[in-house]
Amino acid sequence: MTVKEAINKRKSIRSFTPQPISKETLDEVLEAGRMAPSARNCQEWKFIVFNNQDNEKSSDMLKACYDQSCVQQAPNLIVICSSTDLMMPCNQSIGTVSCSIAGAFMTLSATENNLGTVWLGRFDADKTKEILNLPENCVPVAILAIGHPADEGLPRSRKEFSEVIEYR
Ligand SMILES: Cc1cc2nc3c(=O)[nH]c(=O)nc-3n(C[C@H](O)[C@H](O)[C@H](O)COP(=O)(O)O)c2cc1C
Repeated sequence: MTVKEAINKRKSIRSFTPQPISKETLDEVLEAGRMAPSARNCQEWKFIVFNNQDNEKSSDMLKACYDQSCVQQAPNLIVICSSTDLMMPCNQSIGTVSCSIAGAFMTLSATENNLGTVWLGRFDADKTKEILNLPENCVPVAILAIGHPADEGLPRSRKEFSEVIEYR
């Protein structure tokens, strides 16, 4: 699959089959995140893999994500964490931006591997930290729910090219 094909195929998937993700495939997705660019190549991130199956903390994670059902249905969650609170001269957070690029790479790799993902920003970061017993300087930036898709996702709509692109 080309990058273009993966970009065009990817859609948020919020419904998953119970089929576990093989370790090999999950590692390939995580590797795509590891290879992502980061500000000053700092790589101040950790990708925490949460296994939902037979996990006593599964319903706690569901609650921390405000009962979004995909959170418990997905066989795995990838909690993308930043360990820096430094800002760039452009006034943007190194952690947020770098982790987001890593997350985007992982969603595309998941697509290439016929897995579905949904990016989650609606979660309580403090509760997530507590549940996962994360160190103080490890801040969850995003959660990817990942698994084998049980449906095709919602149709995607996008603003027109001319509405979002400007040449100056
Ligand atoms: C920063 C960010 C936060 C998001 N948070 C959530 C979320 O908490 N729950 C959810 O169901 N979808 C969430 N999404 C998914 C978006 O709703 C989805 O990407 C958007 O509707 C476009 O649909 P598509 O991903 O199928 O192209 C989030 C996406 C982004 C980029």
